[in-house]
Amino acid sequence: MSYFEIQGGVPLNGDVHISGAKNAALPMLCAALLTAEKCTFENVPDISDIQVLLDIFEAIGVSVSRDLDKKTVTIQAKTIDLNKLKTLHKVKKFRASILMLGPILARKGECSIMQPGGCVIGARPNHIHIDGFTTLGAKDKSQPENLHLTYNRKKLQNPRLLLSEASVTGTENLAIFLAAQNETSEMYFCAAEMHVRATLEMLQSMGAQIEGIGSHHLKITGQKELSGGTFTIPPDGLLAGTYAIAGIITNGDITIHNVNHKELYSFYGPLKRVGANFEMLDNALHVHPPHDLKALKKLQTAIFPGFSTDLQSPFGVLLTQCEGKSMIFETLFENRLIYLYELEKMGAKIAIMNAHQAQIFGKSTLKGTEIQSWDLRAGAAMVLAGLIAEGTTKVTNINYIDRGYENFPETLATLGAKIRRVQ
Ligand code: EPU
Repeated sequence: MSYFEIQGGVPLNGDVHISGAKNAALPMLCAALLTAEKCTFENVPDISDIQVLLDIFEAIGVSVSRDLDKKTVTIQAKTIDLNKLKTLHKVKKFRASILMLGPILARKGECSIMQPGGCVIGARPNHIHIDGFTTLGAKDKSQPENLHLTYNRKKLQNPRLLLSEASVTGTENLAIFLAAQNETSEMYFCAAEMHVRATLEMLQSMGAQIEGIGSHHLKITGQKELSGGTFTIPPDGLLAGTYAIAGIITNGDITIHNVNHKELYSFYGPLKRVGANFEMLDNALHVHPPHDLKALKKLQTAIFPGFSTDLQSPFGVLLTQCEGKSMIFETLFENRLIYLYELEKMGAKIAIMNAHQAQIFGKSTLKGTEIQSWDLRAGAAMVLAGLIAEGTTKVTNINYIDRGYENFPETLATLGAKIRRVQ
């Protein structure tokens, strides 16, 4: 079992370049299944979630050429083998495989996949996706062990769809499907995260007309024959946020390049309020050593443009270094505070009130010990905690971290961190 070993207490210094966003790359690669034409992607992150998705594509007969050292991937879905897909176990590896439903249903009129992988962070229900497709006119033939939809209508049953939650992958999946229908539809209460936006922009350049990109209301005029092209994966704001916190808590001085500030305003607000010292440069963020850090009354996660749930756990580590009582209110997921138990093992003073709320009493000196990653973002938070802990920290279950953070320990090491991957 691999793990990361960290000797804490070293201030980080230098420059870091942010790679492409996992949560944009996954739906965008899936959208390539809408067309038999070639789709080339640039700035694709070299992370295990992407490799798994591309393996799945290859297994179902889609031609994939990947050069992740150069960050490029080309996909050409001339054929899609529905039979192979039906029983493909790899699909269960992660939840993002649900994003194949939209394009394959649109292209083939049917899609059956094994239930996408579960996740420790919460219930992650499928109903937003399934309810959406059935409202549009698909038939749901799913069984407990698989998701199975068919669609053979000439026209959408309902061209107007109100999502019950502004789900990120739900919005993407349904928009991908609607982009390939020869009619106009509207979707309300959509997610508006930057990665949703990037997917919609890709659909637009493939030939769909989409109004309202970046808002919670989309009007999509699709067309059956969509074209391929070259698409660029936008930079990952969640990585930028994580590296910013790494700089702040280690009293470091780092410049983070390839940053889209618009994605991070809701992160900058609480960062400013705790007293972090940073400046927005052109396409970059400079983090200086902070003055005294003070507690935050409340950090509440929300859909975009609110504070991202994916940055909640990294921010939780920062709050252990802030003087006074801070409160976290995780509104989206039921299980995204578990990492706080790991921080407690390191000496952080924390009161977990319920599955969604916790108080953090700072400032605590963290002590190195063995801690585990509970999910991707919580895993990154564990690494952050190790960077400031006294002594040695061992972070286990790092496969979670490799799913979404490209070369995380290697990049931190270039900034001076004493961290190594032990195989
Ligand atoms: N939810 C609400 N209210 C809302 C919207 C969502 O309560 O208005 C709840 C839902 O019930 C759901 C949960 O929040 O259980 C998550 O929502 P969503 O459906 O948007 O999640 P997702 O599409 O399954 C994507 C990302 C996650 C990220 C969430 C939230 C991808 C591949 N995954 O998941 O990313 O946490 O959106 O932003 O895009 C990660 O990268 O580590 C990760 C888990």
